[in-house]
Amino acid sequence: MFRTDLLQHKRILITGGGTGLGKGMAERFLELGAVVYICGRREEVLQKTASELLGKGPIHALSCDVRDLDAVERMIDSVWVGGPLDVLVNNAAGNFIARTEDLSPRAFESVIGIVLMGTLHCTLACGRRWLKSAHRGTVLNISATYAPVGSAYVVPSAISKAGVEALTRSLAVEWGDRGIRMNAIAPGPIPTQGAFSRLLPRPELETLALDRTPLHRFGTIEELANLAAFLVSDGSGYINGEVIRMDGGEFLQGAGEFSSLGRILKEEDWESLKPRKRSAP
Ligand code: HXC
Ligand code: NAP
Repeated sequence: MFRTDLLQHKRILITGGGTGLGKGMAERFLELGAVVYICGRREEVLQKTASELLGKGPIHALSCDVRDLDAVERMIDSVWVGGPLDVLVNNAAGNFIARTEDLSPRAFESVIGIVLMGTLHCTLACGRRWLKSAHRGTVLNISATYAPVGSAYVVPSAISKAGVEALTRSLAVEWGDRGIRMNAIAPGPIPTQGAFSRLLPRPELETLALDRTPLHRFGTIEELANLAAFLVSDGSGYINGEVIRMDGGEFLQGAGEFSSLGRILKEEDWESLKPRKRSAP
């Protein structure tokens, strides 16, 4: 769907790039000519992904816990040795379903640390360097559809993703005139081991999620990667401060007062609801 040189020579860091959506974006960006850096906590996972994708183009694995500001600064310093990054994708996340009253302070800290503070650490580390050298840069944050409205049972994530979206919109304005673009994608459910094992751990939860989307299917990693490629490319240069929802219409189906009627009312019900033809006087 794109020219194969769409991201030629672009230097891109994807946090959480060793698995799931991050790995899918890494693969797509490499196919489009980018130089890709992936980071995560587990060295062996990163190395496996890097060796799997090496045939597609230059990929570098850097182990780093994005909660740790000093570790992020060291990682970004090491990337900058080869030249400035052009794109940062804040994709790393932590999440699980739980009743909020059962959560310990560490449970909150853990998710908020990865999702909100990790995004902040990486964004500021790159942003400050870009501003200092007047280098153009683009940040793409991976949010979730529940960020603007909140969601029961994933409260640490909901709080954090809401903060990530506020950061996206705020810096789009503050840094826009200095060449830095900020956008986000809010995906609906896309099967990955990391997300589905923690968020939809039982078959009936997957069925419930499928029933919530008008397309009656989950999104694919390829669809997400294509949207991400467009948003980090120069072709989308006038898109700034946007959160693009990619969920097959799931959010809107949930919001529409009467949208679930289609699942309950059958053909005969709709027929019986039609106005009766008046008989001639
Ligand atoms: C209650 C839990 C818990 C659970 C962990 N904790 N899991 N509490 N219910 N299911 C608590 C622990 O008891 C501990 O608190 C604290 O959280 C930290 O847990 P650790 O295991 O020590 O933390 P850590 O090793 O840093 O792991 C972080 C993690 C883990 C977030 C808990 O799940 C992780 O590593 N996740 C990374 C990948 C991931 O989550 N991917 C999914 C992204 S999908 P105490 O007090 O006991 O010490 C997504 C959107 C999906 O974000 C949307 C789908 C539609
Ligand atoms: P995933 O495979 O679990 O990806 C999460 C990645 O983050 C992992 O590679 C993990 O690697 C990394 N990570 C976690 N904590 C980290 C830390 N402290 N420092 C550095 N890296 C860390 O799940 P995914 O489904 O691909 O999720 C990717 C993104 O999409 C997330 O932002 C998620 O919120 C979002 N999202 C996903 C879905 C979905 O349905 N899949 C829906 C909406 C939004 P390590 O464990 O090795 O650190």
